[in-house]
Amino acid sequence: MLPILSTVLTIFVITTTVTASTECVWATGKIACLKNQTLVVGATVELFDLDSPQNSRIKNPLDPDDKVAFTTVEDSDGIFSIEGCASDVDWIPGIKNLPEMYFRVFHYCNKPQGEYKTVLPIWRVFVPKTYDKHINDPIILDD
Ligand SMILES: *[C@@H]1O[C@H](CO)[C@@H](O)[C@H](O)[C@H]1NC(C)=O
Repeated sequence: MLPILSTVLTIFVITTTVTASTECVWATGKIACLKNQTLVVGATVELFDLDSPQNSRIKNPLDPDDKVAFTTVEDSDGIFSIEGCASDVDWIPGIKNLPEMYFRVFHYCNKPQGEYKTVLPIWRVFVPKTYDKHINDPIILDD
């Protein structure tokens, strides 16, 4: 093959196979502080994508995850809703690398100064579905 043609083909293959999957999330749920439910007021629920391309472990190894959205809990019922979009690079051609979502909650249930709770495992539920697992199975913030 002519060297130029093969170079053009190589570039074509690289640019067409490294694509990204963009997915959006609708999520709703509930946080609970069993010792005193009033303490959920003012908590912040953040939505993260575990492994997004913007994250670049290479550029910022200390903060590899990407914050997609956040919301503040304003009522003592602890109910929150959050939405956002995330994209992950499809490293293997033809196989969608779906974003891996999880919540992190900053709350005052156990300490007046507040603390973070990361809620695992990760989940992959995207629009048009709503991720509502924690409506019936609240995130318990107590130690
Ligand atoms: C619960 O927390 C709220 C807000 O800090 C406080 O005003 C209230 O007295 C607490 N209730 C109980 C039963 O400890």
